[in-house]
Amino acid sequence: MPPSLKSSDRSPDRPHITVVLAMSLDGKIGDRDHSAARFSSPTDLAHLEHLVAESDAVLFGAGTLRAYGTCLSVRDPDLRDRRRDRGQPPQPIQIVASASGDLSPDLRFFQQPVPRWLLTTPAGADRWATISPAAAPCFDRILPQLAADTTDWPSLLQTLTELGIHRLALLGGGSLIAPFAQADLIDDWQLTLCPLTLGGATAPTPFDGLGFPAAIAPRFRLVSVTVIADEVFLHYRRTSRDGYEGLGV
Ligand SMILES: NC(=O)c1ccc[n+]([C@@H]2O[C@H](COP(=O)([O-])OP(=O)(O)OC[C@H]3O[C@@H](n4cnc5c(N)ncnc54)[C@H](OP(=O)(O)O)[C@@H]3O)[C@@H](O)[C@H]2O)c1
Repeated sequence: MPPSLKSSDRSPDRPHITVVLAMSLDGKIGDRDHSAARFSSPTDLAHLEHLVAESDAVLFGAGTLRAYGTCLSVRDPDLRDRRRDRGQPPQPIQIVASASGDLSPDLRFFQQPVPRWLLTTPAGADRWATISPAAAPCFDRILPQLAADTTDWPSLLQTLTELGIHRLALLGGGSLIAPFAQADLIDDWQLTLCPLTLGGATAPTPFDGLGFPAAIAPRFRLVSVTVIADEVFLHYRRTSRDGYEGLGV
């Protein structure tokens, strides 16, 4: 497995951002129906839990929440102990991005014992306020700083830093990750290559949206590769840019 990362190593202006995804051999992270991606092994789920446990917060899109209905909390007592030793609360904050704010309060997610934040637009915040009466709030914090069209992610990330989030895991899906990748805000990719092919032109990939011409695409270096049974665990890190060297291994 890849080495642990130290929470003291970070870019000062924004959280360190790691994408964590399981991917099919043909580069898809979900099937053509955008259903919950449950194709990786228990070893991969433990790997995911390990990376979630290293984060101050995890961020995922509303499509992912609608597909799964739940989030991945930290259940392993050893991982919780390590969080405590690092001075972190037992669970990372689970942040959902939803421009519409259209999420059912009946999702099992809202019963899970985790801190929950909603990243949404002002309209989404208004909508959620009517769904969830103030007496029984489903979210611990609502940040109405998403824009319906183009969000200013760097300033939003600065807000997250000011709120104590220094290590952020991006857990998908492809449309959530797209603006981060497009703005070259991703420091690490943790990809698990899984032994199946999903296909489908509309199936989600790790980075949907506009994309880059190859000539100007951000480059990454391989930090580690681990093969366990039929899966390959890949860890790539952004090569040096703008004076920010990323983390030492
Ligand atoms: N293999 C894996 O490791 C993995 C991990 C996660 C997800 N997945 C798969 O990925 C698929 C879901 O991905 P997806 O691309 O369809 O959906 P997604 O990225 O999870 O969510 C898309 C939704 O999130 C909100 N959103 C995302 N980015 C936003 C932004 N920049 N600004 C405002 N709102 C934003 C919007 O919500 P509203 O519609 O509410 O406005 C949007 O419709 C599922 O198949 C899931 O199983 C796979």
